[in-house]
Amino acid sequence: MKIIVDSRENIDKIVADAVAEFVSEKPDARLAFAAGNTTHGIYSELSKTEVDFKNTEVFNICDYIGLAANDDKSCANILNSVLYSKLGIEKIHSPKSENDEEAEKYDEEIAEAGGIDLMLLGIGLNGHIGFNEPATLYDTRTHIARITDNTKRMKSELFGGEENVPEFGVTMGLKTICNAKNVLLVAYGEEKADIIHKLVYGKTSTYVPAAMLQMHMSFTLYLDEAAASKI
Ligand code: GLP
Repeated sequence: MKIIVDSRENIDKIVADAVAEFVSEKPDARLAFAAGNTTHGIYSELSKTEVDFKNTEVFNICDYIGLAANDDKSCANILNSVLYSKLGIEKIHSPKSENDEEAEKYDEEIAEAGGIDLMLLGIGLNGHIGFNEPATLYDTRTHIARITDNTKRMKSELFGGEENVPEFGVTMGLKTICNAKNVLLVAYGEEKADIIHKLVYGKTSTYVPAAMLQMHMSFTLYLDEAAASKI
């Protein structure tokens, strides 16, 4: 695990440059991006790049179940608005959410494309990545997940109240995520300091799903000073 600590402004630029550099060297890269607020500054920087992203292919990591296809709160529509449309990315894959059997086929879709080359994650306050909430088993593939109250509290602003956050989401599993060749994870702010401590020093228990990344061969953690204040 590589850890890079700098100001939020600098991390936004550093991560955007790292993604752009990766694609300049691999124009047909398969990519996956988190839709949470943490990464939007990175996407704003990345949208300025001269690098051509039109031959890349993106795989959405997770989404809420039950939103209308045009709902601007869905992860797919957020990413399309803040990133894909800005970079001219058109090859976009999303997991199916009718049931676990359909959802699991997403792993085959990813494998058939050659696997994910680079994934950019955020982290939930309870250590979730995607919608892999605490106690998700390590070897899970893409599946339907119940969204915890902790996560609903995190997303209450986006949905105008906890009670409006969907009960379920569909998400790449921990195994799906850990199969990505390169994983970057970004966290900002004091509120993430505790979970970052658990990610870095905690047991690789499923009670902190992101801690599974300690075992990943190419994992880089990007933090601002506040999120790094307890490591
Ligand atoms: C959400 C998403 C994750 C995201 C995390 C952190 O639940 N499913 O993909 O990384 O929460 O979000 P934020 O960056 O807004 O703190």
